[in-house]
Amino acid sequence: MCGITGFTGMHPAAPVLLNGLSRLEYRGYDSAGIAVLNGNAIHIEKVSGRIAKLYEKTEGGKTVPGTIGIGHTRWATHGAPTDFNAHPHLSNDGRFAVVHNGIIENYLALREELIAEDYIFHSETDTEVIVHLLEKYYTGDIKAAVMKTASRLEGSYALGILCTDAPDTLFAVREASPLILGIGVGEQYFSSDVTALISLTKNVIYLEDGEIACLTPDHVTVYDCTGKEITKPISRVTWNVEAAEKGGYEHFMLKEIMEQPAAVKAALTSRIQGEKIRLDDFELPAEILRSFHKIIITACGSAYYAGCSGRYAIEKLCHLPVEVELASELRYADPLVDTHTLVLVISQSGETADSIAALKECRARGATIIGIVNVVGSTIANLADYTLYTRAGPEIAVATTKGFTTQLAVLYLIALSFAEKLRSISPEVYSSLLWELKQVPKYIQQSIDMNYQLPTLSRRYSSRSLFFIGRNTDYAVALEGALKMKEISYLHAESYAAGELKHGTIALIENGQPVIAVCCNEALADKTLSNVVEVKARGAKVLALAFHGNSRIISQADDVIFIPRISTIFSPILAVVPLQLLAYYAAKAHNCDIDKPKNLAKSVTVE
Ligand code: AGP
Repeated sequence: MCGITGFTGMHPAAPVLLNGLSRLEYRGYDSAGIAVLNGNAIHIEKVSGRIAKLYEKTEGGKTVPGTIGIGHTRWATHGAPTDFNAHPHLSNDGRFAVVHNGIIENYLALREELIAEDYIFHSETDTEVIVHLLEKYYTGDIKAAVMKTASRLEGSYALGILCTDAPDTLFAVREASPLILGIGVGEQYFSSDVTALISLTKNVIYLEDGEIACLTPDHVTVYDCTGKEITKPISRVTWNVEAAEKGGYEHFMLKEIMEQPAAVKAALTSRIQGEKIRLDDFELPAEILRSFHKIIITACGSAYYAGCSGRYAIEKLCHLPVEVELASELRYADPLVDTHTLVLVISQSGETADSIAALKECRARGATIIGIVNVVGSTIANLADYTLYTRAGPEIAVATTKGFTTQLAVLYLIALSFAEKLRSISPEVYSSLLWELKQVPKYIQQSIDMNYQLPTLSRRYSSRSLFFIGRNTDYAVALEGALKMKEISYLHAESYAAGELKHGTIALIENGQPVIAVCCNEALADKTLSNVVEVKARGAKVLALAFHGNSRIISQADDVIFIPRISTIFSPILAVVPLQLLAYYAAKAHNCDIDKPKNLAKSVTVE
């Protein structure tokens, strides 16, 4: 995903911009560039490939003097990842430079209009229309030109703008793409992500859609979409730089797997007060809950699989029908959604385009929206009626781990909280499950500690294409386990409902076929065990995942991973942890780029 950053102050801008861009690398990109204003000329340097090339080309920024500038990492959407498509883009008159994160959906019409007016394009990007519109509408008032330009754009954009006529002033615009201002002393910043700011300042302003910011070294002014100056609260970021660093682990992903006990604790504890669950700053009273005829959970990727797991808890405890829908499908499905529908939108980044679109589709039909999001101030957080932050802290690795388990933690809180209000479970069951939920951070740690043999098991089972099988809650875990394996080790892996094997896929089982059997749903354990026997009879080697003390599985599987025993509806939050580590060690054995897997971005902000 693209990332933008900007600086205005009394020091050289280029080194600050390069450092900011390096903190955005994890988002996934394929080109990068900076623009610095020096005197009355804008100097642009941009490269396809890694930021290291930009450091080298500019000698760490030394060859690009000036104290105000903008920077960009680009994840190609319109036009190949080449130098000329890289941002920043410059207006024909050399007066404006722009960096952009998002997609201008009407760029083709704008491009034709501008070409007809003799503006010359140097790239294939949608972004370049912005810089020519600024030139077109500029008559001496930069803010007016920015507002007029923004009024012509359709789609999503976080913009950083530099103008030679404003030698110390940056402009930043937010519409449906994250943009955060960093408030310094004698210098100001902006970025797509807090991670690029926290080494500079912990005082930030989260811009919202339609807002325009004007940054000078000593002052930040924010305007609403009408151009009226508004007051914005300054938030204090609690993360420190180390929290966004690797903390001694070889990879961010391993660090984030190991952080899960603490992350899940952060998601739970502030919301459990004695025997009560307080879902942050909103309460949905029983009469409102009773007005909902169904719940739809929508998300993408791992967040969708979190929904598949959470669904069982909500249905079981609240006796409410729950549908789990892929956001990329739901947005075009003409969904049966109305004012009696509660929609949970799950997203670590809060910026996933399909999930945003699905949210808007459901909201337009009258649904009540709860966002389950990790990134504060993100688009989904701003669009939802209510937001529950997962509080996982910065998740840098592209493959989500703590982002996933904290989503489950929040879903379990919702299930229990709603069930208590609806009186759909007895007070005794509520208290017992609440007690169990409070043990989850400790049980996650035990799931990690009990499975020191995972590096060996991973080498034994990650030789070739793998099957992940399970039933009910175990099937939802198998889905996420297979995705983890695929996205970081590049091994083909498929997850199947264990009962489905005999309907075709068992034809693929041959001698030595690795099968990971998730067997934590004890009501269905005998059924899954029979599936284990079926595949073993055809030559498969089976690694089973089961509760500690399940002796029967030992006689059937070739190897067993044990986790602490917990109620079935909560078992996915424990069972997924060994599968995350299985995938991690497989990727390590295959020398893969674990934190930044090929072709993947941390947040998919385009369709
Ligand atoms: C997870 O490991 C993947 N990187 C991906 O499936 C991710 O979960 C999906 O893109 C959704 O992202 P979000 O949670 O930020 O919306």
